[in-house]
Amino acid sequence: MNQAAAELIYYLESNLSFFLKSWKEKSVMSEDDVHKDKLVLNGLSMFELIKNSLITPIDEEKLKTFACKLAEERVEANINIGEFVYNVNLGRSEILKYIYRSGIDHDKLEPIFEEVNRIFDLFSYHAVSKYTEMKEKQLQDKIHYIDQSHQERLTILGQMASTFVHEFRNPLTAVIGFVKLIGNDNPDVKYLDIISHELNQLNYKISQFLHVSKKELIDNQQEEVSLHSMFTEITEFIYASILDGDVNVSTDIADDISITVNEDEIRQVLLNILMNSIDALRQRETDRSITIKGHRCDKEIVVSISNNGPAIPKESLDTIFEPFYTTKEFGTGIGLFVCKKIIEKHGGTISCSSDSYLTEFKITLPNNH
Ligand SMILES: Nc1ncnc2c1ncn2[C@@H]1O[C@H](COP(=O)(O)OP(=O)(O)OP(=O)(O)O)[C@@H](O)[C@H]1O
Ligand SMILES: [Mg+2]
Repeated sequence: MNQAAAELIYYLESNLSFFLKSWKEKSVMSEDDVHKDKLVLNGLSMFELIKNSLITPIDEEKLKTFACKLAEERVEANINIGEFVYNVNLGRSEILKYIYRSGIDHDKLEPIFEEVNRIFDLFSYHAVSKYTEMKEKQLQDKIHYIDQSHQERLTILGQMASTFVHEFRNPLTAVIGFVKLIGNDNPDVKYLDIISHELNQLNYKISQFLHVSKKELIDNQQEEVSLHSMFTEITEFIYASILDGDVNVSTDIADDISITVNEDEIRQVLLNILMNSIDALRQRETDRSITIKGHRCDKEIVVSISNNGPAIPKESLDTIFEPFYTTKEFGTGIGLFVCKKIIEKHGGTISCSSDSYLTEFKITLPNNH
């Protein structure tokens, strides 16, 4: 140990009580801090650390462990880290003040000043890093907990909804059947076609929910159907909506394309996409159009439904297939989710591309013929 260091240690030790007293008086500490009694003890430890660094180079691992321990206490006390940083900096200026007052030659003090500053910088760095890391973890745990309980609530809601929907379906099927019978017996009764149409729409919506809840009642039989006649049937089914939306629908599908699928399910997919397109086109003043195309491509059948409505933002292009994503006031956001599920179940793919000119939904299905 050199002469200057020995003198300085002697000076600091003789002034220890003054140093601690003045630091304690100036430091800030919340009344409800559970660790407030440790303030002086921690100050003393820091003083010892600095004093020892004058004799042997500081053990940086030890310094880090000490800083992390204090950071853990700060997190436990749940007090703003600002207080801690303030007290540490106060300790630094107090100790530097005593070193300066020791009367030792300034040239000899300069490297000591530098080392003390370096120790305090390191100490603050480790303490604040640890504190931030722990706070971040606490936050993530909270978010995880909220997500989990939200998920559980959604599951319960889903189960309730599917039970509810099942209860709806049986009387609805009966009503649809009886409306048909009334129509057969009394062909002149007014509005029966409207009632029938609305009931069928309702039936489609309900089937959609059942797909999501996985308790679908629709049988899984596949049959060969002509793509062309399927679209003709669907556009007739939604004729009222096409008219109401003032949309021009053009179709370009080869007559001889047939697909082997579950007809009810694929009809629902095409219907969902067409209804979405009509909805999107409402944002356009004039010249609203939907183009439906179908062609063979190697081992696939490619169906494209496009419209000239507003673009879907790039960042939403994947999200639109997620459940409950909707931008509509009364939307449920399950239409495209169901579409994706059905198409993938058939061994196909569904994708969407969109720009300010055209939004296109492309479906591929295996060509089994
Ligand atoms: N052709 C389209 N043009 C522009 N945006 C679209 C189009 N199709 C879907 N979207 C966007 O994707 C979202 C999700 O569509 P999805 O069919 O899954 O649910 P939804 O239509 O909102 O509600 P619903 O469950 O009643 O179908 C829509 O809210 C809309 O923002
Ligand atoms: Mg929809």
